[in-house]
Amino acid sequence: MTTKKPSLATTICQGRISLTSCVYNASGPRTGSSAALAKIAKSEAGGILAKSATVESQTGNPQPRTWQSESASLNSEGLPNYGIGYYLSDDVINEVKASGGDKPYMVSISGKNLQDNLTMLSDIVKAYKDNKSSISAVELNLACPNVIGHPIIAYDFKQMEEVLNAVSSLMKKSKSELPLGVKMPPYFDGPHFQNAANIINKYVGIVSYVASINTIGNAFAVDTHSEMPVISSKGGLAGLSGPAVKHTALANVKVLRSLLNPDIDVIGVGGVSTGEDVFQMILVGASAVQVGTCHWIEGPSCFGRISDELIEIMNEKGYSSIEEFRGKLRDWSKEGASASRAARKAREAREKEEKEANDLLKQAKPNLFDIVNLVLIAIIAMLAADKFGIMS
Ligand code: DHB
Repeated sequence: MTTKKPSLATTICQGRISLTSCVYNASGPRTGSSAALAKIAKSEAGGILAKSATVESQTGNPQPRTWQSESASLNSEGLPNYGIGYYLSDDVINEVKASGGDKPYMVSISGKNLQDNLTMLSDIVKAYKDNKSSISAVELNLACPNVIGHPIIAYDFKQMEEVLNAVSSLMKKSKSELPLGVKMPPYFDGPHFQNAANIINKYVGIVSYVASINTIGNAFAVDTHSEMPVISSKGGLAGLSGPAVKHTALANVKVLRSLLNPDIDVIGVGGVSTGEDVFQMILVGASAVQVGTCHWIEGPSCFGRISDELIEIMNEKGYSSIEEFRGKLRDWSKEGASASRAARKAREAREKEEKEANDLLKQAKPNLFDIVNLVLIAIIAMLAADKFGIMS
């Protein structure tokens, strides 16, 4: 019997953007140059999202500005990027399109102030008008923790509303249909989720999606040997990402999905490095999933690996599309928990049996070293027998 391969296809921005795979890159490391973006385009990623741009090109914070451990990464890059003009240029777009065909190319902006964001947004709206097929969406970063002297916008609800108000006016005035997403910081408390969602819900029709979460701001790591911070700028404070933030990200996606207007998609991001992570993000309501730190560490081949792992899970569970399980997280129940425990025990027993069988096989099978020894002993015995005339 042949089974049909499950589809990872999805749409975002109320169906206006089609992605062949729900997995694509987050804005961040490995997204700053056309060469890096072309590599993402060539990979199994469903879309391509550029590094958050500023009006002018800038080199970012001094080195060292990144650090990695097994479970966590710190980054305080300070928005190194080539300036918005670069990400909208024909050269960059042509290189990306030549590598990725029809995959959506999206840009991201993180202005130093509101005026910078509006200036960049006007440029993007114009580029979108001039050539609709070149840019699919813009992600407005309301959550960058690493710019010295600039607190995270979306932690200041008054400022966040002012920014969205001004952005909304610009979009309405220009009559642009350019899909707009907002990148949000993680929230940790009920009223904060509610405040953020209430504000964003006022802009339904303008804000097409929310990407949640950006790094957890202002984390710290110590170099024990030198007794110093590992990061040189901002007193060593930096954005935390990687597997350590996954559960915060899942909580944010789940809660925001429940509070936001259904016409605003939630894109899950934060600590995703396996197909199982993507599966869980979709289960709690994500329309698509971005991968940041894992892409940084592993490179664009991560999109193929993660997609294969997701397909395997979908096959095991009998899902043929992500629509079949999106947002379908079940309520906790005694029956579910005991079924899960039984499945885990059965799996552990199976794995134990397989290991024991393998060990037995290894013991029974003479290894190459034993065979060579036996042959050598036989040759020596034959030579000795020959020499002492035993064979004659
Ligand atoms: C940077 C970090 C972020 O978390 C972000 O959203 C944008 C930029 C940076 O340090 O470059």
